[in-house]
Amino acid sequence: MAKTVGVGITGGIASYKIADLVSKLKTNDIDVIVMMTEGATHFISPLTFKTLSGREVATDLWSESLEYKVQHIGIAEQLDLLVIAPATANFIAKMAHGIADDLLSTVVVANTAPVLIVPAMNSNMFKNPIVQDNIKKLQSYGYQVMDPESGMLACGVVGQGRLPAVDDIYDRIISLLHPCSDMAGKRVLVNAGSTCEDIDPVRFIGNRGTGRMGYAIASEACARGAEVILVSGKTHLEPPANVKLVEVWSSQDMCDAMLKYQPVCDIIIGAAAVGDFRLAAIADQKIKKTDNGPQSVMLELVGTTDILKEMGKRKQENQIMVGFAAETENLLENARKKLKSKNLDFIVANDVTIEGAGFATETNVVTFISRDGEVVSLPKMLKEEVAAAILDRVVDLMQA
Ligand code: C5P
Repeated sequence: MAKTVGVGITGGIASYKIADLVSKLKTNDIDVIVMMTEGATHFISPLTFKTLSGREVATDLWSESLEYKVQHIGIAEQLDLLVIAPATANFIAKMAHGIADDLLSTVVVANTAPVLIVPAMNSNMFKNPIVQDNIKKLQSYGYQVMDPESGMLACGVVGQGRLPAVDDIYDRIISLLHPCSDMAGKRVLVNAGSTCEDIDPVRFIGNRGTGRMGYAIASEACARGAEVILVSGKTHLEPPANVKLVEVWSSQDMCDAMLKYQPVCDIIIGAAAVGDFRLAAIADQKIKKTDNGPQSVMLELVGTTDILKEMGKRKQENQIMVGFAAETENLLENARKKLKSKNLDFIVANDVTIEGAGFATETNVVTFISRDGEVVSLPKMLKEEVAAAILDRVVDLMQA
C-alpha cells in the first residue's frame, strides 16, 4: 500500500527546495500531504505544492475542510511519517515545548507516526545553545534530526545551516518508511564514551573519546529492532531514545557493568575509549600545590583491566564480539593481535593519524579484519555510516 508522508514546511528560505522533494516523493508513488506555516507561505506559494502533491495544502487551523471532520486530527491519522523541512528555530522551539497554535504545530502534537526534522537556518542561530537544547530534547523523544550542511548561507554567512541535499532527505525518508528489522529479537551491549580515573576528589584523567561512534552504533542497532544496553562513560551526547543507558565513570565501573550484562546479550561491541591506566591510589583530599618553589607531583599509574579481553574469556557460543583498534602505526599487524587476544569475531581498525579518522571527528576511515583473515577497507564515512556497515557485518555473521 502506498505510504503517506506529511511534509511540514516552515518559514525559511530553503522552503523553495521542498518543491523538488515533494515532486520526487510523488514520482516514487508516495502520497504527500503538504502543510505550511504562515511564514512558509511568504517564501513560496501553497499553489506550487498543491500542483505538485495533487492535494489541498493545509495552512489554516481554522479553515473548514471538505476532506476531514477535524482537519489536524484527520491529517495526523493518515501519516506514516511526518517530515518538518525546513525546520526553523522557532518551529523547533514550539515542537520541543508542545505548543500547538497553528495547523502544522497542532498536527505535530496529534501525530503518532515517526518524525524527521530537517533544520535549516543561519549558523549562529543553529549553534545557539537554546536551539541545540531543543533539538536534543526532541531527539530524546525519538524524533530523528538531520544535521544541516555547511556552506554559503542565504544571509551571506558561511557556516553550518544549509538544508541537506534533497536526495539525502529523500533517502532518509525512504529508510524511515521501510525500517530494517534485521536485528529484531537480539540484545546488543555497546560501550561508548571515555572513562575517567580519579586522581583526587576534584581531578581525574580522561581522554579524547567523544562517544560518537558508540552512540551511533547504539542508535543504529535500535533502529534495526535490537534491544540495546548502552554502557556509557563520559560524553556530551544525548543517548538515543529507547536504549537502556547505564552511566559509568571509571574503567572499573565500565568493566563491572559490561561483565554484568554479558551473559544476557547476543552481540557485544566495545567502542569505548577505555583508559589503560588508573591511579595506584586515589588521594582522599585535594592535592595541594605548594606556595612557592617548583611544583611537581608524582602520580603512580597502574594498568586497568582490559574489558574486552575479560569478556573474550567468558564469551558464549554464538555470542558475537566486535572491538576497535585505534592505531598510529602498523595498523593491520596491531589490530590482528588485538583481534586474537580479545577473542573477537572482527575488529574495526583505524589509523588515527589519517585526517577525518579517529577521535573527535564526525567521520572515520576504517578497515574490518575478521577471524579468518579477511580484510575489508572502507572509504571515509560518517560515523553513522560506519555504524551501519559494522551492523551489516554483524548481521552477516549471525546468519552464517
Ligand atoms: O588494546 P586497545 O585499547 O587498543 O584495544 C581497543 C579495544 O579494546 C576497543 O574496542 C576498546 O573499547 C577495548 N578496550 C577495553 N578495555 C580496555 C582497553 C580497551 O575493552 N581497558
